[in-house]
Amino acid sequence: MKVKKWYWSPASHFDKEGEGFSIRGEKYSDSIAALFPDYYYLTAKGACLTEILKSFEDRDGYMIREFTENLIERGILREKIDNPVDVFSGQKELLGVDVVDSYEKKHQEDKDLVYRSIYRKISTTEGRIPLEEIPHTKGVGYRRQTTRVFDTEKKIDARVFAHFLSVLRPKDGEKDHPKFLFPSGGGLYPIDYYIYVKEDRVEGIPPGLYLYDAMENLLRVVQLEAEIDPRVHYFGNQDIFEKSAFSIYFVLNSKYGFDKYGDLGYFLGIVDSGVVLQLLSVQGEESGLGTCSIGEMDFQKIEPLFQLTREQVFLHCLEVGRKVEDCDEQ
Ligand SMILES: Cc1cc2nc3c(=O)[nH]c(=O)nc-3n(C[C@H](O)[C@H](O)[C@H](O)COP(=O)(O)O)c2cc1C
Repeated sequence: MKVKKWYWSPASHFDKEGEGFSIRGEKYSDSIAALFPDYYYLTAKGACLTEILKSFEDRDGYMIREFTENLIERGILREKIDNPVDVFSGQKELLGVDVVDSYEKKHQEDKDLVYRSIYRKISTTEGRIPLEEIPHTKGVGYRRQTTRVFDTEKKIDARVFAHFLSVLRPKDGEKDHPKFLFPSGGGLYPIDYYIYVKEDRVEGIPPGLYLYDAMENLLRVVQLEAEIDPRVHYFGNQDIFEKSAFSIYFVLNSKYGFDKYGDLGYFLGIVDSGVVLQLLSVQGEESGLGTCSIGEMDFQKIEPLFQLTREQVFLHCLEVGRKVEDCDEQ
């Protein structure tokens, strides 16, 4: 059996705060502080539990084991790729930004912030060159908008479901040199699409969790009758999740991106995910389905269902359902 190696997450910082010692914002005792930086140097290169215990055999073995288990539980020692929130941790501190801390404030629509953000000015010294106001083409792209209220009474037609997903598969007749409807860094298409379908919401698809195989244009069963608890979503998003017919989880499969681009592969994968998000939300208009992006959720709670590999990491979620006809409140 392969022994598990644990790696110190490059996104986790340890720090001396006044008298205390902290790791990713949590305080630890002086006896733990005394293990650093050696503990970090050892695990940054990857080490199994036996190696860690051996390296500190002059210390209290029970304490080392307990501390190591705590770091594993906190995701600071890991065997998998870091999730995006951790990868970017520490960026706001560079700018000294105070983030809205209460749940209510974060989720009530802050019209003032939106206004200031979209009318922000980029200062230049070179003057301004006004452009001609060309009217938008009033196609599906123009009609796209977020849908938060879905019709749960009628099932989505099997053809509509297939039509919606068809933008993810290669263009017709190009199996040897597949070309897609969207660009992707290095032509690697590193996003895996997991689809969670609810009971009686999509014609011909039993409830469960699936992986969409774009090359074969089929759903591969991950777990039939899998159940996702709405509480993995923030309160304001729970109703959207409960009423949607299916959810698409965008998961970065970093292996090939990293082979080609190294760490940049992670970032390019996030860009790819945005490209596809737009494509699917416009396709929703084309198929008569509504879509809603979900920016933040407690994916860790449901991750075991997905059976992800070390190289896979969840990036984004899209809720999809039938639009309610004549509904203004979207
Ligand atoms: C990255 C991202 C995250 C989002 N997260 C949420 C969310 O958690 N809940 C929600 O109701 N809408 C979410 N949205 C939808 C935005 O609120 C919406 O796009 C924005 O208000 C503009 O409205 P429109 O899409 O109808 O044009 C998200 C959109 C994006 C692109």
